[in-house]
Amino acid sequence: MQLIHTGAEWQKIWLQLLQSNKTIGLVPTMGALHQGHLDLVKKCKKQCEVSVVSIFVNPTQFNNPEDFEKYPISTAADVDLLEKEGVDFVFLPSVETMYPTQPQLKVDFGRLEKILEGAFRPGHFNGVGIVVSKLFNIIRPHVAFFGQKDLQQVAVIRSLVQDLSFPVQLETVSTRRESDGLAMSSRNRRLSPLQREKALLLFQSLMLAKEELLKGKSWKSIQEKIRVNFQHTEAVQLEYVELVQTESFDLLEAWLPNLNCSVCIAAFIGEVRLIDNMPINS
Ligand code: PAF
Repeated sequence: MQLIHTGAEWQKIWLQLLQSNKTIGLVPTMGALHQGHLDLVKKCKKQCEVSVVSIFVNPTQFNNPEDFEKYPISTAADVDLLEKEGVDFVFLPSVETMYPTQPQLKVDFGRLEKILEGAFRPGHFNGVGIVVSKLFNIIRPHVAFFGQKDLQQVAVIRSLVQDLSFPVQLETVSTRRESDGLAMSSRNRRLSPLQREKALLLFQSLMLAKEELLKGKSWKSIQEKIRVNFQHTEAVQLEYVELVQTESFDLLEAWLPNLNCSVCIAAFIGEVRLIDNMPINS
């Protein structure tokens, strides 16, 4: 496994790979890797001849400076994990490499900016759009892999690829959960044992939503029940729980069994903000 730190280093390797006609797969990450990331890596290795994992905690996508400062970093352990997975290249750029100058460009994803993550984290998707575009331009992968846990990010990146004609095929991988159902996330490392227990309320709410929707209960009544459950739990704060059409990300007032729908949730557990989602009819 080779560690790469700059675009220039990668360019030389990329030219050789191009001559041998190899399929390049990219797994973009912000490090603090867990089994969910490794699922992306496994899929990448299965589908592509060359696997590249990027580790870069992208400052421009954090709307909350404290979240950025406290974002867990474990680069040495991450590199060990990736080596064990048989990854070919790890791209570890510095902030100066990725942002030699402050980007002037602003990416606006329209409707997706105004709902859920877009509404609660202003500027977040601009930062994601910029950094993912940079990674696509530097690494020039044929295929890129993203987790379904960040469902709205998947919709945003799909729109980025379509609108800017990036020649990149997108692949998504289902959410990996702990044995009790908590979605794996790098931010889970910041939870105290008590907060870890409370964090389960996200998964429990999604399960409740799925069960009740499938029984024919109205979405509005379920949404209200979940809001009340959060109000009755100390030190947690629900930001949103919404029903969306999975691909278009249209907000829905009611469940439509013939459409792919997902329930999306975001909440603070203490000061740690977690998100999760659950497909309803699959
Ligand atoms: O999902 C993430 O970890 C990040 O948003 C990404 C795609 C690596 C961009 O920084």
